[in-house]
This record gives sequence, structure tokens and C-alpha cells, in this order.
Amino acid sequence: MLVTNKDLMVPARKNGYAIPALNVQNLESLTAVAEAAVEEKSPVILAISPSVVKYAGLPYISGMAKTAAQNAPVPMSVHLDHGENFEIAAKCVEAGFTSVMIDGSFLKLEENIALTKQVVNMAHPKGVSVEAELGRLAGVEERTVEEKDAILTDPETAKEFVEQTGVDTLAVAIGTSHGAYKFKSEAKLDIERLRIISQKVAIPLVLHGASSVPQQLIEKANKYGAQLGNAKGNAIEEIQKAIPLGIAKVNVDTDLRLAFLGAVREVLANSPKEFDPRKILGPAKAAIKEVAKTKMQQFGSAGKA
Ligand code: G3H
Ligand code: 13P
Ligand code: ZN
Repeated sequence: MLVTNKDLMVPARKNGYAIPALNVQNLESLTAVAEAAVEEKSPVILAISPSVVKYAGLPYISGMAKTAAQNAPVPMSVHLDHGENFEIAAKCVEAGFTSVMIDGSFLKLEENIALTKQVVNMAHPKGVSVEAELGRLAGVEERTVEEKDAILTDPETAKEFVEQTGVDTLAVAIGTSHGAYKFKSEAKLDIERLRIISQKVAIPLVLHGASSVPQQLIEKANKYGAQLGNAKGNAIEEIQKAIPLGIAKVNVDTDLRLAFLGAVREVLANSPKEFDPRKILGPAKAAIKEVAKTKMQQFGSAGKA
């Protein structure tokens, strides 16, 4: 079933679990995530970034994602991840996405509010839900309290932002960052800040940069020639502390990429005579599917469809 993020996330917040928003880039990652959701009886968000729209072409990626969702026995949404301007959001709504993120987190507050409102006004009449972001996802280790306050989401501002924009879901910054190098030492989130945000903001919240960077994925990729020393992600316990505090969507891309990398490298290293793309990418799809299933179990969405 093709549904919106709001359809998936309101019950998730109410019942204390989170929907995995898994970034897909091509046929292999898309079918891996969709099959994982069906096998785990889990709702899922198929997250598509603007750079994937460029890479795959909007008709192809939206066509594949909508087909997967429409034919699945579990609910799925087709979501634009980190839409950077009004135009890309409008194009994706036009192409049949059921949810768009407008990421104005890099703008001044008033500009972020104005842009988010503009997207809400365009998307809501078409039944499409909107995610906005407040605060910046950046490394916060070794920063002063003042610096952290400037980067992380301010709870009172979040309340006003939601009231003024009419947005459906809000991404907050509580110490995560994108990519494979999130922390140098302890992987810790500002859970107290999230607790206060969740008391002030009733709509479902979103956690970006939520990959765990499992060491076994790093070790496997490195074993076959990758150079990913010092990669470090979120402790899964930290993510699991955040979910009952209103986080209803947890974004994961890096862990899927790491799974893909290790599997491709293994085939190429062990089977130098292989030249069938399906034999090279098939194991990568299986590895992505395995990580996707683990996320559904860890975030509590497995069995909820
Ligand atoms: O948060 C961003 C996602 O990981 C997408 O990254 O623009 O390289 O597809 P991308
Ligand atoms: P990771 O880099 O931690 O996987 O975050 C992905 C993300 O936030 C996509 O929007
Ligand atoms: Zn993100």
C-alpha cells in the first residue's frame, strides 16, 4: 500500500516505535528494502534524496518506488529526503511522492519558516505530508555548551516553528550527524533535550544521521580492501532511548551503503572471473536486505504492518 509519512508516523509516535526511513538509490537497494519490509511485516519509508533523483532520473526512481509500494502487502511511503528547495519538492509531489522533506536547516529561522510554509501550502492540498528540519546536524563532540546550543534544536523554537508552519513531522538535531564518522569517542545523544522537545511538540519527530556503523560491516569491507578506519556510528541503545521520546522516523543510509560495499568487494575479491552484474550485485542486495530487517526489529516497526 502506498501511504504518506503522516499515516505511518502518527501511530508510531503514539505507540512508541519508529519507522525506518531507508535510503534507496537503485533497483537493488529499493527491492532489498521492500522485500525486507514484507518479510518483517513492517511499514517502511522509501527515502530518495535529490542526488538520487539526479542519478536515476525522476520517472525511473519514482516509478520503481511507487510500484514497490502499490504492490506490497505492507504500507510504504515514497519520500523525498533532504529536499533543498521548493522546486525539487514540487517536482516530486508531481511525480507521485507521498511525502517530501524540505530541509531549510541551513537557513535563518524566518527563512526556514517561510520556505517550509510554502511547501506545506503546495503539498497539503495534494494529500502529501511534509517534514521540515530545525537545528543543524554537525559533530558536537568537544564543543562548548554555547556552541552546542547554537547547533542543536531549541525546544521552544521547535514549538513555535511547528505552530507557524503547519508541518506534519519535524527533524530535530540532538547530536547525530550524517555519514560514517560521527563520533571520535563516546556515541552519546542529548536525550534530555529531546525529552523537553517531545513535551512541547506533539507531532512525530525525526532522527537523521541515525546509522550505527556496525563494526562487523567495517571489518568486512576493510578485509576486502576498503579503508574505513575510525568509522563510528550511534550506539543502538541511544537510538532506542530516543524512540519512546517521540522519534517516529529513524533515517539510515550509511549502514546500507557499508553492507553494499562489503558484499561487492567480497565478490570481486573472491571471484575475479565473474562479470555478470547480477552475480556481483545480488549479494549486495541480500546484504542491504539483512541490515534493513535488523533496523525494523531494532526500531520496533517489525510486526506493526
Ligand atoms: O542524508 C543524506 C542521505 O544520506 C542521502 O545522501 O545525497 O548522497 O544520496 P546522498
Ligand atoms: P546516516 O548517514 O547516519 O545513515 O543518515 C542518513 C540520513 O539521515 C538520511 O537522511
Ligand atoms: Zn538526513
